[in-house]
Amino acid sequence: MPKATLNAILVEHPLIQHKLTLMRRTATQSAEFRQLLREISHLLAYEVCRDLATERISIDTPLERMQAPILAGKKLCLVSILRAGNGLLDGMLDLIPSARVGHIGLYRDEKTLKPVQYYLKLPHAIGARLTIVVDPMLATGHSAAAAIDCLKDAGAKRIKFVCLLAAPEGIKTLNTSHPDIPIYTAAIDRQLNGQGYILPGLGDAGDRIYGTK
Ligand code: URA
Repeated sequence: MPKATLNAILVEHPLIQHKLTLMRRTATQSAEFRQLLREISHLLAYEVCRDLATERISIDTPLERMQAPILAGKKLCLVSILRAGNGLLDGMLDLIPSARVGHIGLYRDEKTLKPVQYYLKLPHAIGARLTIVVDPMLATGHSAAAAIDCLKDAGAKRIKFVCLLAAPEGIKTLNTSHPDIPIYTAAIDRQLNGQGYILPGLGDAGDRIYGTK
């Protein structure tokens, strides 16, 4: 059987790697964890926005008139998968403050183990916006795939997915269910454990962001 290749964009920057190492450590407390996630989000946002279209407008500098580039088209849309997605969202909004924001809440049905949507709020005209879905942990990939199903149903046409850590299993699931969606990640870890946690990982991202454990 041919080996499935992992199709993901690994954003490997020394600053990201350093900050991620600090985040992984058990000793790192919530306040520092949140701050590090925010700083890495800036660097991921920089990379995921690399191909945004620009157009030229006429402006006056103190010295002369010039044609200068600004972002073209409708404001982009950031979509956070609740609740850990909000940790990535905050940093992305620092860099792209005019972005529109959507939220998707999903829980796992105890019997079917499938994600079930309990909350969905999206900006209007999503089909005309680049839509960037954020969730720090791409583990099984089922929540990410379900979130992207919702967004496509809502009319989103151009979607990217951004995470901090990805498991090979999650990348394969998302590549299979949505081969058109590029995945940006700061690291690809070894595997999932029996409970669906990423190894070596950093534990439960939501708990570490909000200090709930
Ligand atoms: N979600 C988390 O928060 N951590 C994991 O390791 C996997 C999923």
